Amino acid sequence: MIKIPSNERLIVALDVETVEKAQDLIEQLGDSISFYKIGMELVYAGGLDLVKTLSKEGKKVFLDLKLHDIPTTVERATARIADLGATFLTVHGFPQTMKAALLGKGKSNLNILAVTVMTSYDDKDLREAGYSCTVQELVRNRAAQALDAGIYGLILSPREVSDIRNVVGSKLELITPGIRPAGAEEGDQKRIMTPREAIKVGADRVVIGRPITAAVNPKVAAINILTEIEEAIS
Ligand code: C5P
Repeated sequence: MIKIPSNERLIVALDVETVEKAQDLIEQLGDSISFYKIGMELVYAGGLDLVKTLSKEGKKVFLDLKLHDIPTTVERATARIADLGATFLTVHGFPQTMKAALLGKGKSNLNILAVTVMTSYDDKDLREAGYSCTVQELVRNRAAQALDAGIYGLILSPREVSDIRNVVGSKLELITPGIRPAGAEEGDQKRIMTPREAIKVGADRVVIGRPITAAVNPKVAAINILTEIEEAIS
């Protein structure tokens, strides 16, 4: 795996209602942030062009669309997305879906990430959804399948990172949402850690939304997190 520059270890989730709000946030964060995540909320609000704009400005973009459909649709959708210039695209970690996305990306620079189990889920939520396994078992299973399929990286809870390193070694990037700086609101996240803890247990990158986007001063919040990450890797 390539060495990741420390400022690219923090990915800021642009989970806002309008493109104007996203642009305002990007402007406030300025040079401190070089990697953004654009998810469904912003895409459905017309934010897809922002992928191209940010890429042209030299920023990296993680397009979090969590694709999951029949293989032909996933393959063809991924091929179209590959033209936008994003660095990462998420799909759900089902074998058919992962293989289709890898076919769709072809020789482009887009890297496919598999979502193992949403970080808002715990064992009880999985039971309610009809699964008889635990979160840990499902994450392990999907990690092994992602490795077999040739996926670039995984989205998982920081609490699963050390366990999953034993399954995938350093062959896959491990990227973790569910991050909360000490004292921050948990919101709907259940399997959380601080940025420092996540990097210490071996996460390659952290995805952080509300602790930055909802902060009184997003730039200060982002810089504090970047400092925490730098301290954790040194
Ligand atoms: O605001 P917060 O820091 O909780 O944002 C986390 C981001 O990571 C959200 O954009 C959410 O969609 C995303 N995500 C997640 N859990 C996953 C996959 C993605 O929270 N398993």
